[in-house]
Amino acid sequence: MAITTCIFDAYGTLFDVAAAAREAAAEPGREAFAQHWQQVANDWRLKQLQYTWLRAVADAHSDFWEVTQNGLDWALEASGLDGDAELRERLLALYWELSAYPEVPAMLAKLKAAGMNTGILSNGSPDMLNGAVASAGVQDVLDDVLSVEDVQIFKPAAVVYDLVGKRFDCAKSEVLFVSSNGWDAGCATGYGFTTAWVNRAGEPVDRLPWTPQHILTDLTSIPDLASS
Ligand code: LAC
Repeated sequence: MAITTCIFDAYGTLFDVAAAAREAAAEPGREAFAQHWQQVANDWRLKQLQYTWLRAVADAHSDFWEVTQNGLDWALEASGLDGDAELRERLLALYWELSAYPEVPAMLAKLKAAGMNTGILSNGSPDMLNGAVASAGVQDVLDDVLSVEDVQIFKPAAVVYDLVGKRFDCAKSEVLFVSSNGWDAGCATGYGFTTAWVNRAGEPVDRLPWTPQHILTDLTSIPDLASS
Protein backbone atom coordinates (compact mmCIF):
# COMPACT_ATOMS: atom_id res chain seq x y z
CA MET A 1 0.00 0.00 0.00
CA ALA A 2 1.27 3.50 -0.82
CA ILE A 3 2.63 5.67 1.98
CA THR A 4 0.22 8.47 2.99
CA THR A 5 1.58 9.37 6.41
CA CYS A 6 5.14 10.16 7.53
CA ILE A 7 5.70 10.04 11.27
CA PHE A 8 8.89 11.12 13.01
CA ASP A 9 10.43 10.40 16.37
CA ALA A 10 11.47 13.72 17.93
CA TYR A 11 14.58 13.59 20.11
CA GLY A 12 17.66 12.58 18.15
CA THR A 13 15.63 12.31 14.93
CA LEU A 14 14.33 15.83 14.20
CA PHE A 15 16.03 17.55 17.16
CA ASP A 16 19.70 17.23 18.04
CA VAL A 17 19.74 15.93 21.63
CA ALA A 18 23.47 16.59 22.03
CA ALA A 19 22.97 20.29 21.24
CA ALA A 20 22.14 21.28 24.83
CA ALA A 21 25.44 19.98 26.26
CA ARG A 22 27.44 21.14 23.22
CA GLU A 23 26.07 24.70 23.41
CA ALA A 24 26.53 24.93 27.19
CA ALA A 25 30.14 23.71 26.85
CA ALA A 26 30.90 26.56 24.42
CA GLU A 27 29.68 29.25 26.84
CA PRO A 28 32.24 31.40 28.70
CA GLY A 29 33.19 30.15 32.15
CA ARG A 30 32.40 26.50 31.47
CA GLU A 31 35.95 25.22 31.02
CA ALA A 32 35.43 22.32 33.48
CA PHE A 33 32.26 21.20 31.72
CA ALA A 34 33.88 21.58 28.29
CA GLN A 35 36.18 18.69 29.20
CA HIS A 36 33.28 16.39 30.04
CA TRP A 37 30.38 17.48 27.85
CA GLN A 38 30.42 14.55 25.45
CA GLN A 39 30.44 12.02 28.28
CA VAL A 40 27.64 13.93 30.04
CA ALA A 41 25.59 14.10 26.81
CA ASN A 42 26.00 10.35 26.19
CA ASP A 43 25.23 9.35 29.78
CA TRP A 44 22.27 11.76 29.91
CA ARG A 45 20.67 10.27 26.81
CA LEU A 46 21.38 6.67 27.78
CA LYS A 47 19.98 7.04 31.31
CA GLN A 48 16.98 9.02 30.06
CA LEU A 49 16.09 6.17 27.68
CA GLN A 50 16.81 3.41 30.22
CA TYR A 51 14.48 5.10 32.69
CA THR A 52 11.68 5.21 30.07
CA TRP A 53 12.00 1.45 29.46
CA LEU A 54 12.22 0.62 33.16
CA ARG A 55 9.22 2.78 34.00
CA ALA A 56 7.24 1.14 31.18
CA VAL A 57 7.92 -2.45 32.32
CA ALA A 58 7.49 -1.55 35.99
CA ASP A 59 4.17 0.21 35.28
CA ALA A 60 5.52 3.38 36.93
CA HIS A 61 4.95 6.09 34.33
CA SER A 62 6.07 9.65 34.84
CA ASP A 63 6.41 12.22 32.12
CA PHE A 64 9.48 12.63 29.91
CA TRP A 65 10.50 15.86 31.64
CA GLU A 66 10.95 13.95 34.89
CA VAL A 67 13.06 11.16 33.33
CA THR A 68 15.05 13.81 31.43
CA GLN A 69 15.95 15.47 34.74
CA ASN A 70 16.65 12.10 36.40
CA GLY A 71 18.98 11.13 33.55
CA LEU A 72 20.82 14.45 33.74
CA ASP A 73 21.29 14.15 37.51
CA TRP A 74 22.85 10.70 37.06
CA ALA A 75 25.11 11.97 34.25
CA LEU A 76 26.31 15.04 36.17
CA GLU A 77 27.11 12.98 39.25
CA ALA A 78 28.98 10.38 37.17
CA SER A 79 31.25 13.18 35.87
CA GLY A 80 31.67 14.83 39.28
CA LEU A 81 29.60 17.87 38.27
CA ASP A 82 26.58 17.34 40.50
CA GLY A 83 27.48 20.33 42.69
CA ASP A 84 26.96 22.80 39.83
CA ALA A 85 23.30 23.78 40.16
CA GLU A 86 23.61 26.62 37.65
CA LEU A 87 24.97 24.23 35.00
CA ARG A 88 22.08 21.84 35.65
CA GLU A 89 19.54 24.62 35.17
CA ARG A 90 21.25 25.84 32.01
CA LEU A 91 21.31 22.35 30.45
CA LEU A 92 17.64 21.83 31.25
CA ALA A 93 16.71 25.23 29.79
CA LEU A 94 18.60 24.43 26.58
CA TYR A 95 16.71 21.13 26.27
CA TRP A 96 13.52 23.13 25.60
CA GLU A 97 15.05 24.80 22.56
CA LEU A 98 17.12 22.08 20.92
CA SER A 99 18.09 22.85 17.36
CA ALA A 100 16.60 20.80 14.54
CA TYR A 101 18.97 19.08 12.13
CA PRO A 102 19.61 21.42 9.17
CA GLU A 103 17.69 19.38 6.57
CA VAL A 104 14.49 19.13 8.67
CA PRO A 105 12.44 22.21 7.55
CA ALA A 106 12.93 21.63 3.79
CA MET A 107 12.33 17.88 4.13
CA LEU A 108 9.01 18.42 5.97
CA ALA A 109 7.95 21.13 3.49
CA LYS A 110 8.61 18.72 0.61
CA LEU A 111 6.44 16.04 2.24
CA LYS A 112 3.60 18.51 2.71
CA ALA A 113 3.93 19.71 -0.90
CA ALA A 114 3.57 16.07 -1.98
CA GLY A 115 0.30 15.81 -0.02
CA MET A 116 1.60 13.56 2.78
CA ASN A 117 0.31 13.65 6.34
CA THR A 118 3.19 14.58 8.65
CA GLY A 119 3.51 14.22 12.40
CA ILE A 120 5.69 13.59 15.42
CA LEU A 121 5.23 10.56 17.69
CA SER A 122 7.38 11.02 20.76
CA ASN A 123 8.01 10.12 24.36
CA GLY A 124 8.22 13.87 24.97
CA SER A 125 5.51 15.62 26.97
CA PRO A 126 3.29 17.99 24.95
CA ASP A 127 4.90 21.09 26.52
CA MET A 128 8.43 19.94 25.73
CA LEU A 129 7.50 19.02 22.16
CA ASN A 130 5.68 22.30 21.54
CA GLY A 131 8.76 24.15 22.78
CA ALA A 132 11.09 22.26 20.45
CA VAL A 133 8.74 22.53 17.44
CA ALA A 134 8.31 26.28 17.94
CA SER A 135 12.01 26.88 18.41
CA ALA A 136 12.75 24.94 15.21
CA GLY A 137 9.97 26.87 13.39
CA VAL A 138 8.41 23.71 11.88
CA GLN A 139 4.86 23.99 13.25
CA ASP A 140 3.43 24.86 9.81
CA VAL A 141 4.79 21.72 8.14
CA LEU A 142 3.58 19.27 10.81
CA ASP A 143 -0.08 18.20 10.92
CA ASP A 144 0.12 17.03 14.51
CA VAL A 145 2.41 16.29 17.44
CA LEU A 146 1.47 13.06 19.22
CA SER A 147 2.77 12.41 22.73
CA VAL A 148 2.89 9.22 24.80
CA GLU A 149 1.24 11.25 27.56
CA ASP A 150 -2.08 10.36 25.91
CA VAL A 151 -1.53 6.68 26.79
CA GLN A 152 0.72 7.06 29.88
CA ILE A 153 3.40 4.59 28.79
CA PHE A 154 6.65 5.06 26.88
CA LYS A 155 7.76 3.55 23.57
CA PRO A 156 7.99 0.86 22.37
CA ALA A 157 4.59 -0.11 23.86
CA ALA A 158 2.23 -0.89 20.97
CA VAL A 159 -0.45 1.45 22.35
CA VAL A 160 1.93 4.33 21.56
CA TYR A 161 2.24 3.34 17.89
CA ASP A 162 -1.58 2.88 17.84
CA LEU A 163 -1.91 6.68 18.27
CA VAL A 164 -0.87 7.19 14.62
CA GLY A 165 -3.69 5.11 13.07
CA LYS A 166 -6.21 6.70 15.42
CA ARG A 167 -5.16 10.25 14.58
CA PHE A 168 -4.68 9.89 10.82
CA ASP A 169 -7.26 7.16 10.18
CA CYS A 170 -4.77 5.12 8.20
CA ALA A 171 -3.57 1.51 7.99
CA LYS A 172 -0.17 0.56 9.46
CA SER A 173 1.08 -0.19 5.96
CA GLU A 174 0.44 3.44 4.90
CA VAL A 175 2.80 4.78 7.55
CA LEU A 176 6.48 5.53 7.08
CA PHE A 177 7.91 5.77 10.60
CA VAL A 178 11.28 7.47 10.92
CA SER A 179 13.52 7.26 13.98
CA SER A 180 17.19 7.72 14.81
CA ASN A 181 16.78 5.23 17.64
CA GLY A 182 17.55 1.74 16.34
CA TRP A 183 15.32 0.15 19.00
CA ASP A 184 12.38 2.46 18.08
CA ALA A 185 12.72 1.80 14.34
CA GLY A 186 13.11 -1.94 15.03
CA CYS A 187 10.08 -2.20 17.31
CA ALA A 188 7.96 -0.05 14.96
CA THR A 189 8.86 -2.53 12.20
CA GLY A 190 7.56 -5.34 14.41
CA TYR A 191 4.40 -3.28 14.97
CA GLY A 192 3.76 -3.18 11.22
CA PHE A 193 4.93 0.25 10.04
CA THR A 194 7.29 0.72 7.13
CA THR A 195 10.39 2.09 8.82
CA ALA A 196 13.52 4.13 8.24
CA TRP A 197 16.34 4.21 10.78
CA VAL A 198 18.43 7.39 10.60
CA ASN A 199 21.83 6.15 11.66
CA ARG A 200 23.90 9.33 11.70
CA ALA A 201 26.59 7.84 13.93
CA GLY A 202 27.13 4.64 11.96
CA GLU A 203 26.09 2.40 14.85
CA PRO A 204 25.58 -1.36 14.53
CA VAL A 205 22.03 -2.58 13.92
CA ASP A 206 20.20 -3.38 17.16
CA ARG A 207 19.88 -7.12 17.76
CA LEU A 208 16.10 -7.29 17.93
CA PRO A 209 13.61 -9.62 16.23
CA TRP A 210 12.92 -6.92 13.59
CA THR A 211 15.18 -4.88 11.36
CA PRO A 212 14.17 -1.48 9.85
CA GLN A 213 13.43 -1.63 6.11
CA HIS A 214 15.56 1.43 5.32
CA ILE A 215 18.78 2.67 6.88
CA LEU A 216 19.74 6.29 6.14
CA THR A 217 22.51 8.66 7.21
CA ASP A 218 20.26 11.74 7.38
CA LEU A 219 16.67 12.79 6.58
CA THR A 220 17.19 14.28 3.10
CA SER A 221 15.87 11.29 1.12
CA ILE A 222 12.67 10.78 3.16
CA PRO A 223 10.36 12.53 0.61
CA ASP A 224 11.69 10.32 -2.22
CA LEU A 225 11.41 7.23 -0.06
CA ALA A 226 7.81 8.05 0.90
CA SER A 227 6.78 8.59 -2.74
CA SER A 228 8.58 5.58 -4.23
C1 LAC B 1 11.35 10.30 21.42
C2 LAC B 1 12.64 9.74 21.93
C3 LAC B 1 12.65 8.28 22.03
O1 LAC B 1 11.31 11.43 20.89
O2 LAC B 1 13.68 10.10 21.13
O3 LAC B 1 10.34 9.60 21.55
